[in-house]
Amino acid sequence: MVKTKMNPYEVEGEINYDRLIDEFGIKKIDKKLLERIKKITGEIHPYLKREIFFAHRDLEKLLDAYDSGEKFFLYTGCGPSGPIHIGHYSIWSFVKWLQDKFNVELWFQFTDDEKFLYKNKTYDEIQEWTYENMIDVISMGFNPDKTHFLIDTKHAGIIYPEAIRVAKKITFSTIKASFGFTDSNNIGSIFYTAMQTVPVFLPNVLNGKSEYCLIPLAVDQDPHFRISRDVVEKLGYKKPAILHAKFISPLTGISGKSSSSNSSKTILMTDSPEIVRKKINKYAFSGGQDTIEEHRKKGGNVKIDVACQWLKYFEHDDNKLEKIYTEYSKGKILSGEVKSILIEKINNILSVHQKRRETADKIIDKFIYKI
Ligand code: TRP
Repeated sequence: MVKTKMNPYEVEGEINYDRLIDEFGIKKIDKKLLERIKKITGEIHPYLKREIFFAHRDLEKLLDAYDSGEKFFLYTGCGPSGPIHIGHYSIWSFVKWLQDKFNVELWFQFTDDEKFLYKNKTYDEIQEWTYENMIDVISMGFNPDKTHFLIDTKHAGIIYPEAIRVAKKITFSTIKASFGFTDSNNIGSIFYTAMQTVPVFLPNVLNGKSEYCLIPLAVDQDPHFRISRDVVEKLGYKKPAILHAKFISPLTGISGKSSSSNSSKTILMTDSPEIVRKKINKYAFSGGQDTIEEHRKKGGNVKIDVACQWLKYFEHDDNKLEKIYTEYSKGKILSGEVKSILIEKINNILSVHQKRRETADKIIDKFIYKI
């Protein structure tokens, strides 16, 4: 059987998430775990219910610790090589929900080093994206008193001493096997996993504590942390717990992942209402029939209709979503009508985001961790 090609630097073809659970050795989030989360948070976020966040590592252990009064912090990150799109937004809106519900600190890493090393962009271009991406993260509405930005090249003074401790415990052959590297990869990229590992325990180093770490991420980032989990334990820290998200598809079809390097196939946080309307109407793959008559008779296919699938992310009301799905599959509503609902939902989100974006710069200092 062909293995799924899935690591931070290569995601190929249609992704079978069930198979990935086996291949990665991660665990599906089951009903029991959902109920446990609900007991603490009072509600189950639609992304959990709808299996957008679908798998985990050690979440039970983290909740055991939490129940017995131990604290944890959240850690996630952003690779600044292009504009923030609605896929990032979705994941981070869930991170914000976690931060609010559990009332915990969030450490946010901006990996300007990583993107400089891996992308065909200049250092200055990456710095511009780092700034722009920080503005978008701030515009998500994270609590400035509890959110700390780490920028790899700017916080090198505190990250690097820890990164070398990590690096000393990782061999080149592990990196090669995890990411499909060869002898022609640049040497910075080989070291990089050490940098992404550090925030798993850095807050504890800085604060003299020993708290658990929970990392919400898109599933392609898991290979880094498979390595990190072994290493941090050897350094005397707890293995982090992880929550894995699926990718939001490109507009053009339900397989693959939205990417900022192909901006016409996804929605950017800075798109105008008009652009959103045009992109969705033009590119969103339709699961409808060729003619209206046929559609009314046979109905549409919710599973492959991108507007229907995207609404899982943006229509949080279960009853409303169910109604749209039923009516669409019976041919009562057309693809164009589902697209209109989606356009309105997304434009509402973007209007709030873009308003915050105008003033985010004023509070950026509150977010950047002070050394
Ligand atoms: N490597 C990630 C990216 O390319 C950025 C990142 C750094 C990250 N630390 C993380 C993502 C922790 C998720 C969790 O986007």
